[in-house]
Amino acid sequence: MQVFYSINTLQDYLKVQRKKGKSLGFVPTMGALHEGHLSLIEASKAENDLTICSIFINPTQFNNSQDLAVYPRTLEADCEMLETVKCDVLFAPNAHDMYPTLPNLKFDFGDLERVLEGKFRPGHFNGVGIVVSKLFNIVQPNSAYFGQKDLQQCAIIKRLVIDLSYNLKLNICPTQREKDGLAMSSRNKNLTPEQRKNAPEIFNALQKAIELLKIKKPASAVKGFITSHLDNIEGIEVEYFEISDFETLQPVNELSERKTALCIAAFMGKTRLIDNVIV
Ligand code: PAJ
Repeated sequence: MQVFYSINTLQDYLKVQRKKGKSLGFVPTMGALHEGHLSLIEASKAENDLTICSIFINPTQFNNSQDLAVYPRTLEADCEMLETVKCDVLFAPNAHDMYPTLPNLKFDFGDLERVLEGKFRPGHFNGVGIVVSKLFNIVQPNSAYFGQKDLQQCAIIKRLVIDLSYNLKLNICPTQREKDGLAMSSRNKNLTPEQRKNAPEIFNALQKAIELLKIKKPASAVKGFITSHLDNIEGIEVEYFEISDFETLQPVNELSERKTALCIAAFMGKTRLIDNVIV
């Protein structure tokens, strides 16, 4: 695997590859890699000549400095994992190269970001929009790969690609889970053994919510039931649980022919976990 730390050397290399007619698949990450990330690399490898993974812990998308401070940093182990799936290129820029000065640029994704993560993490999607735009401009991939685990991020990036006319194909890949159902996440590394034991209850609750909606329980009742059920479990504190339209992410009252997303964010101690399922 070729590793680049600077924007210029990466771009020189990619220019040559593009001239050779190679198609470029891109997987942006913040590192602390797990099987979920590797599934995106594998999807890219299956469809492109060269796969580029970026690892950059993007300060502008953290609205909580403590969350940024404890975000796991495991570059050496990440490189080893990327080698196991034969990723071609790793781009690991430093913060100064990415942000010589902090941008004042502001993205407003409208109603899409007034709900769910956007509502509880003000400024988060502005930071995501900025860094993903910069990375798309730097790498200029033919295809980019994102995980459904971050459903609202996928919706935001879909808009970004349309609004800024990026000439690339977006691919949304399924959420990879541990055997007990817990969605894989870099933040799982911060759970204590006790918290880890109870963490799958979040996914179990989403499954239960689907059952209730399918027997026509109103969304408001399902939300109340699931939230209090989870809040009663040792160590779990729900931040939000929403039943939303899959495309617009606006709340809905019941299942319909349109796809519905059940989205949750919960704290286990200081660790914030998110998950979703689609019906
Ligand atoms: P990060 O949390 O590292 O995630 C990188 C990519 O991996 C995202 O597209 C995310 O949705 C996907 N992913 C995470 N867990 C997954 C799982 N269990 N199954 C499948 N895919 C999973 O998301 C970010 O970084 C950042 O916001 C980023 C887009 C890199 C911008 O900084």
